[in-house]
Amino acid sequence: MSTSSEALKPKDSQGAAQVHPPEVLDQLTAAGSAPEVVPLLHASKTIGASSLDVRKIREDFPILKQGIRGKPLVYLDNAASTQKPKMVIDAICHTYLTEYSNIHRGVHLLSELCTKAYEDTRVVLQHFLNAGSSKEIVFVRGATEGINLVAQSYGRKHVGAGDEVVISALEHHSNIVPWQMLCEEKGARLRVIPMNDAGELLPDEYEKLLSAKTKIVAIGHVSNALGTINPVKQMIRMANDKGIPVLIDGAQAVPHLKVDVRDLDADFYVFSGHKIYGPSGIGVLYGKSQLLEDMPPYQGGGDMISSVTFEKTTYNALPYKFEAGTPNIGGTIGLGAAIDYVKQIGLDNIAAYEHDLLTYATELLTQIPGVRIIGTAKDKAAVISFVIEGVHPHDVGTILDQDGIAVRTGHHCAQPVMDRFGIPATARASFAFYNTREEIDALAAGIKKVKEVFA
Ligand SMILES: Cc1ncc(COP(=O)(O)O)c(C=O)c1O
Repeated sequence: MSTSSEALKPKDSQGAAQVHPPEVLDQLTAAGSAPEVVPLLHASKTIGASSLDVRKIREDFPILKQGIRGKPLVYLDNAASTQKPKMVIDAICHTYLTEYSNIHRGVHLLSELCTKAYEDTRVVLQHFLNAGSSKEIVFVRGATEGINLVAQSYGRKHVGAGDEVVISALEHHSNIVPWQMLCEEKGARLRVIPMNDAGELLPDEYEKLLSAKTKIVAIGHVSNALGTINPVKQMIRMANDKGIPVLIDGAQAVPHLKVDVRDLDADFYVFSGHKIYGPSGIGVLYGKSQLLEDMPPYQGGGDMISSVTFEKTTYNALPYKFEAGTPNIGGTIGLGAAIDYVKQIGLDNIAAYEHDLLTYATELLTQIPGVRIIGTAKDKAAVISFVIEGVHPHDVGTILDQDGIAVRTGHHCAQPVMDRFGIPATARASFAFYNTREEIDALAAGIKKVKEVFA
């Protein structure tokens, strides 16, 4: 496209690219008149080097069959949230259509059935993470709530004035702010493990930060902004050797890697259901039982008590002590179905297939002049954050959207990561096992179009 003009390359006072309103970009790309969302079958031929039958897998995801603005939907925003297979949607529907009731308290059959489905899901999650007991699986709203629970319960009990909490330079805001709030309240200090220009944490600097003052370490398993896979097993060992517990934020890891909390020896591990093909509003906190036993409740209410009088309340056993109020029953059962689905495909197969997509996309994008990939760690999950010289990432996202390509743009709730690289934002393509090489071709073509618009 050659509708470019100098007006298309406005710069702010620092010379950085500025964002354009969507209607301006619509004019520039002659989009805007196409229908927004229409049913359309994606015509994928080559699937990529893997044993996965991706064409068949895509059939499980009804949303992938629809078109966006008359084009096949190319959904590359999986790190923000994944799409849901029919099996998950059906499990939720089945719950509400046939066995829904409140759980734990009823003696009637529906309550018994629903309680069983809910508690069976806890066992599914126990096996998925290889936890030693289902008591160690606490259902929460998501990774964010899991981290806040540990910060407010374990943290408020164990962190005091002058103590330190260690996090990393790669963290999502969800694994920064709860610790910052705790440190502010307690007069403690937040210490940050730095990273290199590839987006890898520096082990020597980490070692130096671990001291008698360190009361907890909280690190992401996989960076949502850059895709870096942190060597969490070694990092946990380094802290545990000094008697320091470690929380791992696994929000971006569990959809892509096999996680074994006992092999990692993680003290706490959190993740969100919606990033692993399950519903939103449900997630998991795994905690070692001896730590959870010793922690005060996070919230008070129904279900978390053993007995209540006005004089004194005694608390329920694990994990119920941490599950106050009526939980997200349908969402929990949906998460169980999502885990079953992922297990059927196999996390080793998923990891191999997505690695192939990442390699292919990296090669393709690296060849486009003016495109810079942010985050080039040796060990990466299938996430590519990038900037295009002279173009604001929001404009990149808006123009790609006109071709049905969904990527995320912005700071990805990781502003310190953006600051580290001296940029306000990136465009981020993040892949799932239902994505194809053709979709990556479409992304590369879309990026070339963006460049032409701004040439
Ligand atoms: C690494 C990481 N941690 C935590 C979160 C927060 O997850 P949620 O919003 O589901 O609680 C996210 C979400 O993007 C994430 O990527």
